[in-house]
Amino acid sequence: MKKLVIFASGSGSNFQAIINAIANNEIEAGIAGLITDREGIVAIDRAAKYHIPVSVIPYFDDHTFTEQLSDQLSEWNPDLVVLAGYLKKIPGKIVDAFDNRIINIHPSLLPKFGGKGFYGERVHQAAIESGETESGCTVHFVDNRYDRGPIIDQKKVPVKPGDTPADLANRILKAEHELLPNVIKRILNQTN
Ligand code: GRF
Repeated sequence: MKKLVIFASGSGSNFQAIINAIANNEIEAGIAGLITDREGIVAIDRAAKYHIPVSVIPYFDDHTFTEQLSDQLSEWNPDLVVLAGYLKKIPGKIVDAFDNRIINIHPSLLPKFGGKGFYGERVHQAAIESGETESGCTVHFVDNRYDRGPIIDQKKVPVKPGDTPADLANRILKAEHELLPNVIKRILNQTN
């Protein structure tokens, strides 16, 4: 059985989409654990409901953060690491150790509206302000550049006249919940 480790910093609706896809046998894998950088987030409640182990690793300094993440990942030993709404940068040592085995979902059609500072509603605000008629989401491999690793797949949604950033975020989130499990399934099928 393939093992996933999910990273999340917030509501974890993408984490839930992965849980659902496993329950529906769309993804043949187990979730070894959830890693978060903060207590008190909805993603932790979701993990508790499904008896998924949680490791809270807050950032204090580069060295400690890297060591704690490395130790937890060594223990859980995942085939694939999924960043599903995780806001911290993954330390280079971990990116190198998990070459092509860490993926991230981002709520825009990268390379548009990605990089440092493009998170949450800012991404959607920027897409609306630039007059885009379509936006969407991207799943990409994680490398040492924010939101710039090789793109695996994207899903487009329209930007409608009068959209607020929240309207666009919600429309994109629905697309994310389809795209992310689908990409995970494809990657796991390609690895032995
Ligand atoms: C998603 O829009 C994702 O693309 C971005 O953060 C958001 C996380 O949402 N990286 P959720 O926590 O999965 O609900």
